[in-house]
Amino acid sequence: MRFDVVTIFPEYMGVLDVSLLGRARREGLVDVHVHDLRDFTSDRHRTVDDTPYGGGAGMVMKPEPWALALEAVAGLGPAAARPVLMVPTPSGAPFTQATARALAQEEHVVFACGRYEGIDERVFGWAEELYDVRLFSLGDYVLNGGEVAALAVIEAVGRLVPGVVGNPASLVEESHEDGLLEYPVYTKPSVWREREVPPVLLSGDHGRVAAWRRAQQEERTRARRPDLWAAHAGRAEEA
Ligand code: ADE
Repeated sequence: MRFDVVTIFPEYMGVLDVSLLGRARREGLVDVHVHDLRDFTSDRHRTVDDTPYGGGAGMVMKPEPWALALEAVAGLGPAAARPVLMVPTPSGAPFTQATARALAQEEHVVFACGRYEGIDERVFGWAEELYDVRLFSLGDYVLNGGEVAALAVIEAVGRLVPGVVGNPASLVEESHEDGLLEYPVYTKPSVWREREVPPVLLSGDHGRVAAWRRAQQEERTRARRPDLWAAHAGRAEEA
């Protein structure tokens, strides 16, 4: 699977060299390439932004450097694959585990990381000739730019690529995979600073452990994420 990231801060992506994903890159399981948007400008100042039509605060990213960059990058993936263009923006659709699972099936995913007040809107319609364009948001808060969102998506998707996470079972039993939050986990010692591990986990009774974990999942989902709990309860009623 290949990721390309277009940004004015290529150095932001340096963290992709470390941890599980760094190893996956070195082993050739995921291929990540970073491109400096300013390399696609033609003026002396390498200008990427300008004032907004209609007035207002801040600057808007100019369309032409984006078009040149996205044209160059579209052809870098596998020949047959129509690339996906992921555009991080607080006005996009929420990125979820389901989105991550779907993206993990793609061969070529490109990120257009905007800064300032965003990218000239015409770029997204234009890009549809070359890409499957998807505007997404990491959550209901505003970041300074799309780089952190791109990193989050690359990590969430990259770890679903076969071979990246050592034990595939750990991918199944985690938060959001079944619409519930994950159960709590404990390790040795069984008593730590006078706090005990729930005795059921020491019982060796796999059936009781599974039932306890499921109850914990339901309880914390109900308490912490009423939105997920309502959706879960709705599905249970339908079934
Ligand atoms: N860029 C700025 N804020 C963002 C957010 N919440 N999600 C994705 N991209 C963003």
